[in-house]
Amino acid sequence: MSKRATAFMNWIDERLPVTQFYNDHLAKYYAPKNFNFWYYMGSLALLILVMQIVTGIFLTMNYKPSAQEAFASVEYIMRDVEWGWLIRYMHSTGASFFFIVVYLHMFRALLYGSHRQPRELLWILGMLIYVALMAEAFMGYVLPWGQMSYWGAQVIINLFGAIPAIGEPLTEWIRGDYFISDATLNRFFALHVIAIPLALLVLVVLHLAALHQTGSNNPDGIEIKKNKDENGIPKDGIPFHPYYTVKDIFGVAMFLLVFAFVIFFWPEAGGLFLEHDNFVPADPLVTPTHIKPVWYFTPFYAILKAVPDKLMGVLLMGASVMILFFMPWVDRSPVKSIRYRSWQFKLLLGVFVVAFIRLGILGMSEGTPAQTIEMRIWTFVYFGYFVVLYFFSPKERTKPVPERVTH
Ligand code: HEM
Repeated sequence: MSKRATAFMNWIDERLPVTQFYNDHLAKYYAPKNFNFWYYMGSLALLILVMQIVTGIFLTMNYKPSAQEAFASVEYIMRDVEWGWLIRYMHSTGASFFFIVVYLHMFRALLYGSHRQPRELLWILGMLIYVALMAEAFMGYVLPWGQMSYWGAQVIINLFGAIPAIGEPLTEWIRGDYFISDATLNRFFALHVIAIPLALLVLVVLHLAALHQTGSNNPDGIEIKKNKDENGIPKDGIPFHPYYTVKDIFGVAMFLLVFAFVIFFWPEAGGLFLEHDNFVPADPLVTPTHIKPVWYFTPFYAILKAVPDKLMGVLLMGASVMILFFMPWVDRSPVKSIRYRSWQFKLLLGVFVVAFIRLGILGMSEGTPAQTIEMRIWTFVYFGYFVVLYFFSPKERTKPVPERVTH
């Protein structure tokens, strides 16, 4: 750096610790040297979060949050606003990609035991992000005020009505009316554009702060901080910048290629990302033949539909998300990474993934009697995973874990 630049940087640093921050979190932050494909997802989630906020701001410039105008304003964005179609598709397809990336990000934790001690808080903050993300996506889907926006909201808000005693007044309080109306749309708009994004941003900052406190886990599930050189630098660590900034930029480039391809050629994914019914304006007098949420909610929706009693269904659906918060204490295996775990664990995790995907597919179905029985079986398997893992994991026969990370 030139003398002038150094002097300027010193001036800044005396007032704001920019260099210290850069060193602590980038240039002298040592991450395990064996990160693989799964470790792209965190930075991609960050990218999509920023993209959703930026495209959301531009959508808000032309969107009208009123029951009379919302649907037409979205059509106006798609047809008349310059590049409006791109901004809208980036946002709506972006929502689905957000969930794809976040599901892979969460699955990585199950593979390598990243949620285990000492990263329990990091995981819990991640789960809070996940719940906030679900609320954000649900309210966002109501905004275009199409048939599925309206009737989806109707079904989900009515679930709260199953709660004894306070159910009815609670649904009225959420809707702000006796039925889903302009008042509901207005408050969902406020929550979708301000309240939840703010909460998400705060949670993501805390998530990253917790990550940098413990340091990253890695595909071997070894704590690199336990093996330091004479300068106190982990022997298996490499500086985040430039090594992982470059790796993450490569991941971003690959992601953008796929994302652009989907946006330009398959933005609605045949009704998976934007359902066909949502291209029909909301009509309180016409119920769509088949009401179902978007794909990322359907595993939980299937669990709801599997139970004949409404209250029990709601409780079980809630439990299916809540149980994930406890994962750090459910998995009690002596080792973290799947690389050194038993074949029984691999089988168990495999069955869990199949159950989750199958529930997701069944959640989109019409719910014939045969499908309902299948939903019950997979719901049983879903919860069975946690019960079996809890009792089996402490006694698991594991392989020896190496001292240092492998390649
Ligand atoms: C907006 C959503 C999210 C963002 C932006 C985000 C960001 C990140 C980043 C940048 C990392 C470090 C890079 C990496 O390990 O991939 C990370 C790690 C981690 N995240 Fe997230 N995350 C999000 C959601 C979640 C969710 C929903 C969970 C789980 C419920 C979660 C759990 C974890 C865990 C356990 C780690 C540590 C992984 C390890 O060290 O092996 N995150 N996150």
